[in-house]
This record gives sequence, structure tokens and C-alpha cells, in this order.
Amino acid sequence: MSGYYEAPSVDDRAIWDLWLSMHHLPAATAAEELGIFDALCETPLSFDDLAAKFSLNRRALSALMAMLCALKLTTRREGVYRPTAVTRDYLKSDSEYFWGPLLSSYKNESSVHKQLMELLKQGDTDMSGRHVEGWAAGKIEAETAKFIARFMHAHSLPAAVAAARSGVYDGVKKFLDVGGGSGVFAIAAAQRHPDLAATVMDLDTMCAAAQEIFIEGSGVETRVDTAAVDMFREDWPQGYDALFFSNIFHDWNEDTNAVLAKKSFDALPSGGRIFLHEMLMNDNEDGPLTTASFSMLMLRGTKGKQYTLRELGGILEGAGFAGVAATQTSPYYSVVSARKP
Ligand SMILES: C[S@@+](CC[C@H](N)C(=O)[O-])C[C@H]1O[C@@H](n2cnc3c(N)ncnc32)[C@H](O)[C@@H]1O
Repeated sequence: MSGYYEAPSVDDRAIWDLWLSMHHLPAATAAEELGIFDALCETPLSFDDLAAKFSLNRRALSALMAMLCALKLTTRREGVYRPTAVTRDYLKSDSEYFWGPLLSSYKNESSVHKQLMELLKQGDTDMSGRHVEGWAAGKIEAETAKFIARFMHAHSLPAAVAAARSGVYDGVKKFLDVGGGSGVFAIAAAQRHPDLAATVMDLDTMCAAAQEIFIEGSGVETRVDTAAVDMFREDWPQGYDALFFSNIFHDWNEDTNAVLAKKSFDALPSGGRIFLHEMLMNDNEDGPLTTASFSMLMLRGTKGKQYTLRELGGILEGAGFAGVAATQTSPYYSVVSARKP
């Protein structure tokens, strides 16, 4: 199906912005319904103050506050949240310009608003959703795997081509794409680097989908193969000089990511490299807007979030990696790299 992956004629920012605009209004309506805007107009509050005052789930509140900042409805300075002028005028319930009556009519129509309210009020349990239970259990049905492979491929192809052209893989000879999905990163890397061989490691049904739909016909079939491995329960294949994870750490919490980082460290030889391809939240956790909205999607469907470079670097260093650095490879994505000493 694939052939050689040419770069698209225009970057994919606009389509990501369009897709993830789905959380803009629900973030504002949830905050308004909870009374967050009124509370911040009364007094600036830290994250802990907000979580305690409203008894909200911390992961959900963190995703929500990042969205509100990115939407320019609140600011975050030295960890303290304040309303912007727009919020004071239009979202404070006793303002004569209050938009509440207008916004309220959209709450009942929006399934995202309702889900967000449930997640925020859920207490501090480890929530999850959709495919992530199957992933955690190491089992995905064949038809679901094909659907996920196509879904992931659509959003990952431009980023995969950009990462392959960015130079981050220079010098890599054997590349293990952990949770490789459709295989798009392995295929793009092999197409761009004639000396590179890659393995897509994933659950058995995903490997079959990647092989059938994407690897066959890619022109690099002889250098890209698959390994059906449950990354949580089984030993990882050895002999690779680089381990690559795209959109994997954002599916899991920090404890699970620490386990993945440690397994990576143990699987690599000295000098081996780890690459994390992720959309990074900025250091102040207040944007970029589309990354904040991707984090909302992770809240709604996984156990993870979009991390900052500091958070990912901390996980890698905790496993023993050194030399953490980030390279922006496409408008929203970066590759965080580190080396086993
Ligand atoms: C968000 S997708 C990322 C796919 C691809 N890396 C990309 O960026 O397009 C997560 C991938 O992790 C894989 N995965 C989840 N749980 C796994 C497990 N227990 N063992 C191996 N792979 C797993 C899924 O099958 C899926 O392909």
C-alpha cells in the first residue's frame, strides 16, 4: 500500500489543530460549570489549592488547567493560576458580559463535556479507557488492531517522514521500534537510511496488521521485520543499537514509563541510544494549545498525558541514561534522546 514516503507538500499543523479543536469549548464549559473561573477571579490559586477546593482528580485537573492556559483563559506563573481579562469579562458569573447562559446550552449536547466532568469528579483513582485496557493486558483483537494501525498511521506518517529526514537517527544500524503500530517510523527510517535495519515490536495482532497493510509494498521489506512481543510481560529482543518509542510514553503514567525505561536500559549495549518521539508540553505546562489538547485526549483514552522534556528526561535519567537532549523534528513533535553510558 505504501511505496516510498515522500514528504507532504505542506506540514500537518493545520490538520492537527482542526482535529484537536474538539476540546476547546468543553474545557471552558467544564471549568465554568465547576466554578473555577469564579474562584480564580476571587483569588489566585495554586494547583494544590484548586485540587483541594474542588476535590478534583489531579490528572484531569492538570490536563484541564494546561488547556485553560493554552486557550488564554488563565495564566500560570510560578505555579499560581490567575484569570485573564477575557475570563474576568466574559466567564465570571456576576459580570454583565457573562457568556454562561449561551455556553450552558452546549453542555448537554457535548459528550466530551460530560466525559470531562465525570473524569474531573472521579477522585484520584487511576482512570483509563478505550484500547488501553487491552494494551495493559497484552491483547488486542485482529480487527481492532487493523483499525488502530490505520488510525495511527494517518496521524504519524508526516511526523515519521520528518523524523527520518531530521538526522536524529544518523549512525543507527539496528533500530527497534517499540509499540511500533503500523510500522510507519521503522519504514520511513529504513527508506531514508539504506544502512539501517528496523524491527517493529508490538502485540501479535498489530505486527500482523503492520506487515500486511504497511510493510509489504514499502520497498524495504528486506530490512524491516516485526517481533510479536508483549512489552510488559515478555523479554525484549537484543542486538539493537537504538530503541525508539513514538507516542508510547504518553499512553502511560510515570511509574509504567519508569519500567519501560529500565527495560530499555537493560536491553541496550553500552553506547546504545533511546529515542522518545513525543509532543512535548512546554516547561510551564501552559501549552502549546494543540499539545495541551492532545493531553486531554490521553486523559480521555489512556493512563498518560503529554509530558514536558523535564519529566521525560527525569524518567530516562532515573533508569541510568545520560545526555538527555530534545530535537524538534516536525511542527509539534520532538525526539528526546539519551545514551546508555
Ligand atoms: C499510541 S500507539 C503508537 C503507535 C506508533 N508508535 C505511532 O506513533 O504511530 C501505541 C502502540 O503501543 C502498542 N502496545 C500497547 N501495549 C503494548 C504491549 N503490551 N506490548 C507491545 N506493544 C504494545 C499498541 O499496540 C500500539 O501500536
